[in-house]
Amino acid sequence: MPAFCRAAANCDDGGPYEEPRMPSSTERSLHPVNLPEGWTPESWRTRPAMQLPTYPDQAALAAVQDELRALPPLVTSWEIMNLKQQLAEAQEGRRFLLQGGDCAESFADCTSDVISNRLKVLLQMSLVLVHGMRLPVVRVGRFAGQYAKPRSADTETRDGVTLPCYRGDVVNAPAFTPEARTPDPRRMVKAHARSAMTMNFVRSLIDGGFADLHHPEYWGLEWVGESPLAEEYQRMVSGLGDAVRFMETLAGTQVHNLNRVDFYTSHEALLLPYEEAQTRRVPRQWGWFNLSTHFPWIGVRTAALDGAHVEYFRGLRNPIGVKVGPTSTPDALLRLIDLLNPDDEPGRLSLIHRMGATQIAERLPALLEAVKRSGRRVLWICDPMHGNTESTSNGFKTRRFDNIRSEIEQAFDLHAAAGTRLGGVHLELTGEDVTECMGGARALTEVDLERAYKSQVDPRLNYEQALETAMLIVRKQAQVGRAAGAPA
Ligand code: PEP
Ligand code: CO
Repeated sequence: MPAFCRAAANCDDGGPYEEPRMPSSTERSLHPVNLPEGWTPESWRTRPAMQLPTYPDQAALAAVQDELRALPPLVTSWEIMNLKQQLAEAQEGRRFLLQGGDCAESFADCTSDVISNRLKVLLQMSLVLVHGMRLPVVRVGRFAGQYAKPRSADTETRDGVTLPCYRGDVVNAPAFTPEARTPDPRRMVKAHARSAMTMNFVRSLIDGGFADLHHPEYWGLEWVGESPLAEEYQRMVSGLGDAVRFMETLAGTQVHNLNRVDFYTSHEALLLPYEEAQTRRVPRQWGWFNLSTHFPWIGVRTAALDGAHVEYFRGLRNPIGVKVGPTSTPDALLRLIDLLNPDDEPGRLSLIHRMGATQIAERLPALLEAVKRSGRRVLWICDPMHGNTESTSNGFKTRRFDNIRSEIEQAFDLHAAAGTRLGGVHLELTGEDVTECMGGARALTEVDLERAYKSQVDPRLNYEQALETAMLIVRKQAQVGRAAGAPA
């Protein structure tokens, strides 16, 4: 059964909500956790909030929040707790996390092709990882809610006209007109509906056997036949029988339990009025859950210790991620860990480092060392995308595949040298045949970017570059493992 369905018998998050209570002694015996002191779903409002739009009509905003509060949740607390458990296992090296999807979803791309192609490429990558790493993979999409974007400026000026910047489809629209750029709270209701449609389709595809590990040929994309990577991929597919048997040994489950895979969702929980309205109590669980996604994360621009986003995240029971950039210091990182995971709960906190290929060797080791010395539990994830963005002479925002590769490879080496573990990757990718990142097996150039550049925000790996990334992860992990004396 997929994770989306597995807990159905226990899962009645729609019932009457319990008052917040302390964890029971059984819950505490699993891990001693405490209610976050002084926290409410609205307590973020007392802190400086970065990256939030200014809504011209506050009454309309409040009405939308009320409407969202009354709508059914998108995920359940049971699924969230399952994911937290899997992330705890990844922290111990018993799983590897693959997190990926668009930089930003758009309302227009909520189509069956875009959703199923993205799911296919993620499944194919996970197949490569399972096969090559001999580890179960935790699959987390960057979708069904990835509609809000942080921006470097509040406004944009063209030909002497200044308008609010585009902040993602949940806030406004990209066209450079006052109508399109004025933040509209009704867009939150539309984003919620689009997220539900996306999730519904993904759940149905998985439930219907789309992700059956015994039939990876169902996931084939037309391109595989012509790709320079086809032979390597086909070899992996034919070797899948071994991987399935191996996974069954690891999981201790029977063949019929492996005909589905787990899939979880994540997004940057940036737009706090939206997230607040989806923050709920549920029956038979203590505390508060963000039920709009399984795994929300804090972006690098909103990770200030005293900021609204850290305050909001502090009180959630979801597993959470935080992006860690090149300006992060060991002291600040340890304080962040204290705030976000004071009880050192397993699976609770993932640190997603995104340093850039030229900075990672200089910036990461001190952070790894400090966290290791503190003895605190985190899942380290490498985002090789956001530190490697550049502009081309013909005006495109792009990333070079060689820099992405280099950041991943350095991350494996730096973790090995520090005695820490790289437990996952976080990627921006699409199942479409776009030309947004340069390089890869087909050696895309600046000129190729003109052919199929579709992203409104950051450049994504196309399906082939995504698959190539999975393959390089496998090769690098094996190399690091061999150097450490692990059997090949
Ligand atoms: C993102 O993940 O799209 C993003 C904006 O990342 P970061 O916060 O790391 O810049
Ligand atoms: Co991005």
